Amino acid sequence: MPTVPEDGALPAGPCQANDYDSIAEAYAALNETSLANAYYERPAILALAGDVAGRRILDAGCGSGPLSAALRDRGAIVTGIDISAGMLERARRRLGDDVHLQQADLKSPLPFPSNAFDDVIASLVLHYLGDWTAPLAELRRVLTPGGRLIASVNHPYSIYAPHRQPGRTADYFATYNWTEAWTIGDQRAQMTFWHRPLHAMTDAFTQAGFRISVVSEPQPLPAARELFPDEFPVLTTGPNFLFFVLHVG
Ligand SMILES: C[S@@+](CC[C@H](N)C(=O)[O-])C[C@H]1O[C@@H](n2cnc3c(N)ncnc32)[C@H](O)[C@@H]1O
Repeated sequence: MPTVPEDGALPAGPCQANDYDSIAEAYAALNETSLANAYYERPAILALAGDVAGRRILDAGCGSGPLSAALRDRGAIVTGIDISAGMLERARRRLGDDVHLQQADLKSPLPFPSNAFDDVIASLVLHYLGDWTAPLAELRRVLTPGGRLIASVNHPYSIYAPHRQPGRTADYFATYNWTEAWTIGDQRAQMTFWHRPLHAMTDAFTQAGFRISVVSEPQPLPAARELFPDEFPVLTTGPNFLFFVLHVG
């Protein structure tokens, strides 16, 4: 997990909200082996996706491409988009020409025709968006009828959990943003996340025309118990992320 200074202070410098470019190298390296990503989030997404051979998949917010690589290895035809040029550069190094990669902002119209994909995977990206209405409409547009949106987000419980910093606001039912300073190695960035209660997520999905097929709160892989003896019990007794499988209705 990134370390968070207690006072949340950032050094003077050109840090911007959600500036993955500032931490691209360090975040990409951490993501490869971390409990949260390698032993929890990524295996859960791949299990929910199931057999993806031959499916056209958009990895929305693909970062440095670990999921794109896993989906490609399982026979999917993968396209990756991300807002961060730095993260995309690392994805390009990993994936070469196997995956079509393009810089795109989920808050803007997507550069794809309608019905272009069988699945969209939005792994740990929707919680960076304040308003889900237009992004979800776009993700639905590019999905084929019967297609799936498989998404993971910060669990709305997680910032109220005892191991996190004391609640940024007491109101679980509000939709609001909060900012956390991340330090990974010697790289720093300021991350702004949107908290929204569970019902606001499900309302947004159904209003965008998705049918909710699965809501999942998985456990990390058992192999992580010995590798992360301190973090493992925290994650097995309180969820960090929440997972959805949604079908185009
Ligand atoms: C926590 S990382 C997850 C990366 C990848 N999905 C994974 O699981 O390894 C979040 C990613 O979302 C991207 N992102 C944030 N806001 C975005 C937006 N508005 N449009 C597209 N990508 C965005 C970031 O640049 C970053 O690469």
